[in-house]
This record gives sequence, C-alpha cells and structure tokens, in this order.
Amino acid sequence: MNLPIYLYGHPVLRKISEPLEAGTEGLTGLIADMYETMYRSEGVGLAAPQIGRNIRLVVIDASPMGDSFPECEGRKMTLINPEIEILDGDPVSRAEGCLSLPGLSENVNRTEYIRLTWLDEEFKLHTEEISGFLARIVQHECDHLEGMMYIDHISPIRKQLIRAKLSAIVSGRTRCDYPAKYAPRKK
Ligand code: NI
Repeated sequence: MNLPIYLYGHPVLRKISEPLEAGTEGLTGLIADMYETMYRSEGVGLAAPQIGRNIRLVVIDASPMGDSFPECEGRKMTLINPEIEILDGDPVSRAEGCLSLPGLSENVNRTEYIRLTWLDEEFKLHTEEISGFLARIVQHECDHLEGMMYIDHISPIRKQLIRAKLSAIVSGRTRCDYPAKYAPRKK
C-alpha cells in the first residue's frame, strides 16, 4: 500500500519515536508498505514518523545512488531500533533532500564515518561500520526518529533564505508529486 507522506509542519515529525518490540502486530506489512511508499516517491530512505508512526523503524534502499557513491550499491536495509556511534572524520558538506520537505535541497555537514547497530526484520542484531553517502542516509533517517530533520543542521542564514518555501509546505501551498499529509490547520 502506498502510504501518504507526512510533510514538514506535522507534529508527528517532531516527536521522539518509541523502540519497537519483537512480535509487534502488523510489522511485516508495515515494512512492505514503507518500501512501496519509498519507491513510489523515489526516495532512498524513509523513517516511520514520515508515514505518521512514532516508532523506531527505517527502510533504506541506497542503490539509486550507487553510480555516484559505490558504498551505496545494492544496499537495502531495514533498521529497527538503530543506534549510531559517530566515528572520527572531518564533517563533509553534501546536498540532502527529504520526502517530508518536497522541492527543497540543502547542503548539510555530517561526519561520514559511523558504527551502526540495528535489528533487522527478524530482530537479528547487526553491527557494521558504514561510511560515505550511505552513512549520511543512515544519519538522516535516524534523525527522524529523534524528531529532527536535516534543516535543523543548516545555518540560521540559510534557514532564513528558505523560510518562504518552508511556510509554503506548512500551509499546503507546495507542489508534491506523491500522496502527502499536510500539517493540521492552526485554529
Ligand atoms: Ni528525511
């Protein structure tokens, strides 16, 4: 099922998500729906808050980035309760986008060396050192689980410059090519 994507301004994107427990009902279907939603909207990652669920669940398929970033080739992963440890390395600035911020792309500074610990669909534990753009995608998606978005990492000046675009998203005046859920109207 192609689910609507919750857009910037919706409070669900600003909440800290809850850990997932093994045996959670409907989880397999939810994961399948999240992949379908991500592919239909041409994203490379999707976090559960973006489909309106405050649970610690992320799907990633970084394959489309494989041409520019070899570390992304064939990397499809379901992350349950992921934890990131930032490893050494100077921050790198690269453009990021987000399905919850249609039409926007901004440079974001991130360290691209991390150690990721997560549970897969079967609740099997994994730990892996990840680098480059894949590490960036993982950090971007895991930010969503903390109620954060990439624009929280940009400078106040940049944020000022995109203020009109942000308020267009909040007020539902933005163009979005996939099913979307806008922020509730303020009374
Ligand atoms: Ni995002």
